[in-house]
Amino acid sequence: MKVDIETFQGIARPMYVLEEVRLRRNLSLVAQVAREAGVEVILAFKAFALWKTFPIFKEYIRATTASSLNEARLAFEEFGSAAHTFSPAYTDDEIDAIARCSSHLQFNSLTQYARFHERAKHVNPAISFGLRINPEYSEVGTALYNPCAPGTRFGITADKLPQQLPKDIEGFHCHCHCESGADTFARTLQHIEAKFAKWFPQLKWINFGGGHLMTRVDYDVMLLVDLLQRFRQRYPWLHVILEPGSAFAWQTGPLVSQVVDVVEDRGIKTAILNVSFTCHMPDCLEMPYFPTVRHAEHIDPAAEQPQRAYRLGGNSCLSGDFMGDWLFDHALQVGENIIFEDMLHYTTVKTNMFNGISHPAIVLAKADGTFQMLREFGYEDYRSRMD
Ligand SMILES: Cc1ncc(COP(=O)(O)O)c(C=O)c1O
Repeated sequence: MKVDIETFQGIARPMYVLEEVRLRRNLSLVAQVAREAGVEVILAFKAFALWKTFPIFKEYIRATTASSLNEARLAFEEFGSAAHTFSPAYTDDEIDAIARCSSHLQFNSLTQYARFHERAKHVNPAISFGLRINPEYSEVGTALYNPCAPGTRFGITADKLPQQLPKDIEGFHCHCHCESGADTFARTLQHIEAKFAKWFPQLKWINFGGGHLMTRVDYDVMLLVDLLQRFRQRYPWLHVILEPGSAFAWQTGPLVSQVVDVVEDRGIKTAILNVSFTCHMPDCLEMPYFPTVRHAEHIDPAAEQPQRAYRLGGNSCLSGDFMGDWLFDHALQVGENIIFEDMLHYTTVKTNMFNGISHPAIVLAKADGTFQMLREFGYEDYRSRMD
């Protein structure tokens, strides 16, 4: 099937459309940063894990991160390389399998380390251990996404680390960004070094986590490369790793949906769609990550609503499953496409089948507009989750 990826005319059902050209553009930039800065950049599965596209990723990067047994297995079995794994809570029943699938295992606390390091080493003698540190500095404004907020459950603060680290600890892992710029990294790095550099001589590697949104148009890539190069000059023995997720899938394609009905209450018109915010675009309600709708202008909901202003409503029973308000240049018709831009990161990994609502298909759009179906969902997908 060949489709015009500007209008998606002729598509009559919802789909996430991953555009290969845009994905490759991001991957090239990531690979360029890694090359010029002399660091390793790996993919965080929590943002994107469409494994049928891993052959494309493998042309540019060599490894991935996992935060669970399932992600670690996906790294090992589908990506074909062991994972850099961090979980705040390894458990007796999963640690062996996780260790088997991991090249790096990062512990959130010294108690987790004490409980599992021997067992993990026994399963996988080549595994490299790290500790997650908490630099107590993050510029992330949204509390839900701030890993360094007071009372956080993530990482070890400098005052709790022993002068001499356990002998088999080889790395530090630190995650304190979210869709952040290189300037934020510059400021954060000062805190990391001020608090933790005294342990660096005992380490082999440091992982600066995710949230480095290097593929955003206004991201200062040169500053990032410069910061990393200079860090490496100061600590030349440290292998430096970044593990962004969003940066890989940023602006790589839309969620295409269709209008099913238009309803009105107290002067508010809602176009009900065949997709749901809570099921298929969860960050829009949770983050809040405000979506861009193609060919529509977002307008102030408090202002008087013009004729062609619509809320967009999801097809679930959740009362709050809607977002407003957009101005279109025509009256919306049943069957027409509503295109939500940039819906490939933190969507397909987080979607759910609440209400049994049909899940959009996932397609890969090739450079010539040809669609390759990656996954369609049906009743069996819903049923099998309830067994
Ligand atoms: C430990 C860790 N690494 C990497 C990431 C990926 O972050 P992003 O997708 O914002 O780049 C996250 C996101 O929460 C994270 O918690």
